[in-house]
Amino acid sequence: MRAFLLFLSHQESFKNFILRFKIFRRIARRFVAGETLDDAIRAAREANLQGIKASLDLLGENTLTREDAVRAAEDILGMLDRIRAEKVDCNISVKLTQLGLDLDTDFCRQNLLRIVRRAAELGNFIRVDMEDSNYTERTLDVVLQTHREAGNVGTVIQAYLYRSEKDVRLLVENGVGIRLCKGAYLEPATVAFKKKRDTDANYVELMKLLLQSGLYHGIATHDEAMIAATKQFARAQDLSGDRFEFQMLYGIRRDLQQQLAAEGYNMRVYIPYGMRWYPYFMRRLAERPANLLFILRNLFRE
Ligand code: FDA
Repeated sequence: MRAFLLFLSHQESFKNFILRFKIFRRIARRFVAGETLDDAIRAAREANLQGIKASLDLLGENTLTREDAVRAAEDILGMLDRIRAEKVDCNISVKLTQLGLDLDTDFCRQNLLRIVRRAAELGNFIRVDMEDSNYTERTLDVVLQTHREAGNVGTVIQAYLYRSEKDVRLLVENGVGIRLCKGAYLEPATVAFKKKRDTDANYVELMKLLLQSGLYHGIATHDEAMIAATKQFARAQDLSGDRFEFQMLYGIRRDLQQQLAAEGYNMRVYIPYGMRWYPYFMRRLAERPANLLFILRNLFRE
């Protein structure tokens, strides 16, 4: 089921089909803050009121033209200004394929560099999301080079990839902050663990490397076992809850987000917004087939 939903996340024809059903749009609103920057800022402000930081993501990936990639970069520069003007505690997550990675790596890097430099001027921070394994090497190269030139940029490591321990060590050696997640894409067994217990075991090992590194990292998961292991390891290392942060996705386990913030841990919520929500939404469905069952049950009740 997971593989099938992830396959559908790339199918334009299926996208056009489901957009006809109101229930999909309604459920998508659970995971996506809205279509406009106003919606996203509102969601970030609500999170801040509960002691939770935010990371905004203007949805969009696999941009097909240079014009669209430049437009995305301009929009993200606008987000930085707006965050500053609104005084919300909020950084920005970007995807390199949104900034033109499929078109030309150097062009994409220039787009990212502009954004990272502007973020540095405004005292903000840019996190580069990690996409499927076809992009891992190029993403790390672009992030490392941009970090050398401008600092102020971090990226994401996926615990399901076999290569991730090596990548964590490389990034940490270069002083790059990491968001650790399990990984959301359809990957072959040649590059990724297929069993949840193997991914989870790797997640715990990588979390330990991060917490021992002396850098500030994000532990991104809704999995209570991963969270408990992190808390336990942090206690054993005598690390207070402000030396790293937990991160979760908008609309998922709000109760746990609030609980961790109340316990004194740094907590950040990832807030996606914009019109291009279909692939993001399908990845969220794939993570939890119960979400799909709920939709199917309600499909013909509208
Ligand atoms: P797991 O999938 O084991 O879920 C644990 C529990 O969390 C479930 O039992 C359920 O209760 C809840 N849960 C998880 N997903 C849910 C959903 N969709 N709906 C409802 N409940 C759900 N991936 C990636 O490849 N590149 C990236 O850049 C990022 N970025 C990112 C940022 C942040 C802040 C987070 C939290 C996650 C990502 N991810 C990501 C996604 C990540 O790789 C992973 O797919 C999801 O976080 C689900 O994995 P969990 O760690 O939550 O565990």
